[in-house]
Amino acid sequence: MRYHDLYANAQADPEGFWMHAARSIDWSAPPSKALHDDDGTTPQWFADGMVNGCWNAVDRHVAAGQGDRTALIHESPVTDASAILTYAELKDRVSRLAGLLTAHGVGVGDRVLVYMPMVPEAVIAMLACARIGAIHSVVFGGFASRELALRIDDAEPSVILAASCGIEPLRVVPYGPLLEGALDIASHRPATVVMLQRDAGPATLRDGWLDWFDAIAGAEPADCVPVRGDHPAYILYTSGTTGAPKGVVRPTGGHLVALDWTMDAIYDCRPGDVFWAASDVGWVVGHSYIVYAPLIHGCTSIIYEGKPVGTPDAGAFWRIMARHRVAAFFTAPTAFRAMRRADPDGDMVRGQDLSALRNIFLAGERADPPTVDWIARVSGKPVIDHWWQTETGWAIAANPIGIERLPIKIGSPGVPMPGYEVAVLDETGRPALAGELGGVAIKLPMAPGCLPTLWNAEERFRSSYLASYPGYYDTGDAGILDEDGCLWIMARTDDVINVAGHRLSTGAMEEVLTAHPHVAECAVIGAADPLKGQVPVGLVCLNDGAGASADDVPAACVAMVRDRIGPVAAFRSVAVVPRLPKTRSGKTLRGVMTKIADGAPWSTPATIDDPAILTEIAAALRNLGYPKGADDP
Ligand code: COA
Ligand code: AMP
Repeated sequence: MRYHDLYANAQADPEGFWMHAARSIDWSAPPSKALHDDDGTTPQWFADGMVNGCWNAVDRHVAAGQGDRTALIHESPVTDASAILTYAELKDRVSRLAGLLTAHGVGVGDRVLVYMPMVPEAVIAMLACARIGAIHSVVFGGFASRELALRIDDAEPSVILAASCGIEPLRVVPYGPLLEGALDIASHRPATVVMLQRDAGPATLRDGWLDWFDAIAGAEPADCVPVRGDHPAYILYTSGTTGAPKGVVRPTGGHLVALDWTMDAIYDCRPGDVFWAASDVGWVVGHSYIVYAPLIHGCTSIIYEGKPVGTPDAGAFWRIMARHRVAAFFTAPTAFRAMRRADPDGDMVRGQDLSALRNIFLAGERADPPTVDWIARVSGKPVIDHWWQTETGWAIAANPIGIERLPIKIGSPGVPMPGYEVAVLDETGRPALAGELGGVAIKLPMAPGCLPTLWNAEERFRSSYLASYPGYYDTGDAGILDEDGCLWIMARTDDVINVAGHRLSTGAMEEVLTAHPHVAECAVIGAADPLKGQVPVGLVCLNDGAGASADDVPAACVAMVRDRIGPVAAFRSVAVVPRLPKTRSGKTLRGVMTKIADGAPWSTPATIDDPAILTEIAAALRNLGYPKGADDP
């Protein structure tokens, strides 16, 4: 069947389409129907089916005689280590950790926070939670203690599973002190912390904390516990407009069905294929495509600890693709920009056997045409962009190459996937004309696997996503639907920026800056950056008391954001300005400042209260090095 027919059928008969897709999942009790919207709240997919995520990702493959198949390959150039785990070994390790959690009183619905770098134990931790119906919440290692504390207080985990350190190309990041710092700030107290001690930086264990391997050694394996289809599989915090992160809830049943469907239809992968998503388990790409989807589908997944810069070098990705005969590779465009900068002619690809590699997938940020062209030129492989969000867990728009390979339009992430009726709406909520820019929205109900709510924040869920356009979910992106039905994602409509494929809130950074005693007001904008796509730039106005210490404010602001949000914010540029440009009604004109920083055409808005300030803002940004040229470091 071709894409257009398949999509039309899925939209006309979602019940038939998704119940058919659900057959690829093992259910302890099959769902009576696909969409459950009887109670008037957010509809839930497969709500009354009974299912277990770990069984589907691990045990069922062992039960089917595939225990010897490689489930995980850990490649860690930063520790000079490489290891494989078969499905049978994975089952053994997951079930013992699940037993340990059970012995510590963790049961269905209890939360477990995972604070680990790219090691197999991170995947084992997530699957162990899924095995016993516990809800995991993985926190990315690049956040500071305060961000970790916010998540601990919101998720209220019974247990924290942590590693003693992460390893960045140029430094070891000790997680122990970061975790201790977070627990000192947080009000919630987990019952225990289980610490994976790493040779590169062991942690001091506080009273009551357990050593991972000692604790596991005595644990009895636990069996899979079936949960309802609408049971939350995990909470993943993501950035919104304000400083408080949003806890995206992932429902179990829809997640399993949708992810398995994507492996064939979007990634063109079969059981046994090697799938590599070079991301981090702390992000949604890691949840869906390092852990759940490849394993549910019986593929081999690569866990890569390293970056395509520094250690070992910009050719590492190609070598690993060749060594493990990777069939599908997925990362954010920023990673390829880093590789291109170090190896513009693709010398490091030559000589690598990429014959197993069928496609390269990009997501997480806009795929800029020069990068896409470079990847295609040096690899000789199709480069396929697709667009999605933490909230959806899988692609909203893609090129469904497993169904029909549609022509690639560079710059467009493709066409809507089944389950998503995508609309581009104008300010009044009416559909924009083909080719016209508008807010990208998805008609409710959303596809299986998408968030039904935010953890502890139903009202915020409704106001953030459902209030802008009645009957639609607001994606927060602005874009265009062209005459062929292809989507083009142009920008965010909120205060979210995308830094090296990492989603961050400028609002959260502004909250930190205003805490500086000399900062009267501030604005953080996302400025175009040739490597990271965007980077945050702070513009601060000082209060009268700053006096002689005014010169120290920018460096202090940089340190505060690093300390309170974390290094991942990549917040390095701050300028002191006399005033911020505002409308006469007092609204800060962030959009104009962003255009100035990007070197994009801009005009003085008619509503501005003081046009002269824009010249001063432009001068301040120039001093910081903006706009950046394509070759700037
Ligand atoms: N733990 C601790 N610190 C981390 C971290 C982690 N997991 N991840 C990043 N950081 C730190 C970095 O060490 C760096 O610190 P520094 O200011 O001391 O140098 C800072 O956060 C910024 O990191 P990053 O934005 O990753 O910049 P980079 O220059 O180190 O690497 C890339 C740039 C493009 C090579 C890298 O971001 C990358 O490979 N990205 C791949 C895409 C990706 O993972 N996307 C996620 C969604 S698909
Ligand atoms: P995250 O929730 O971290 O995955 O970030 C989601 C956001 O990243 C989206 O709302 C977009 O703004 C952006 N994004 C993700 N994929 C793409 C893409 N292929 N093209 C353009 N923007 C993208």
